[in-house]
Amino acid sequence: TDMPNLIIAIDGTLASGKGTLARFLSSEYELPHLDTGLLYRALAALALKTSVALDDEDALADKAETLNLAEFDEADLRTAEVGQAASKVAAYPKVRKALFELQREFAFQDGGAVLDGRDIGTVVCPEAHVKIWVDADIRTRAERRVAELNAKGDPITVDEMLEQLEERDKRDRTRDVAPMRPADDAHLLDTSHLSIDAAKEEARHIVDRVRASL
Ligand code: DC
Repeated sequence: TDMPNLIIAIDGTLASGKGTLARFLSSEYELPHLDTGLLYRALAALALKTSVALDDEDALADKAETLNLAEFDEADLRTAEVGQAASKVAAYPKVRKALFELQREFAFQDGGAVLDGRDIGTVVCPEAHVKIWVDADIRTRAERRVAELNAKGDPITVDEMLEQLEERDKRDRTRDVAPMRPADDAHLLDTSHLSIDAAKEEARHIVDRVRASL
């Protein structure tokens, strides 16, 4: 049972299913999990409720240095408003730099870890043993996210969500620093036509194949 460290990087578009898959792999391989989007969301939430402007890069980077996820209620961070703001603060190089070490430390803890985000396989942890890029077509993603939000009482429509996803995807893909993209050595997992169970199974196969070769 002397398994070497196992670092799993899950990147992909918003509402592609990457969070679900990351949580699944974390429990399957008993590895701690960090949803790195929560870091950007927490910083954005902090800015929204204090006097820090969303375009004040230096002040945001300062706040990022001492960010403590434990001080936030995850449900408050999952709102569309915080998500939009997170996508803005995430475009600042100084903010990304301030959150970089924290993510590296998490990745390199004993035993390994699962991290999910946009730039884990490309920037945060190019050394990851397993890299999976999760995507799905935009309408499927919009429908999934709307079902989730409607269930929580948010009446957002699919058309409104399509617009939000387009805006967020575009900002995440075209920013200068650490733009969202698959690493060259990432395994591509398109969940458009997969059930959640089928997607989990596929992800497990990818990890098992890599593990067998370690
Ligand atoms: O995955 P999410 O919706 O919780 O992420 C919120 C925002 O944070 C997203 O628009 C882009 C940004 N993000 C990032 O730039 N890099 C990451 N590793 C994770 C998230």
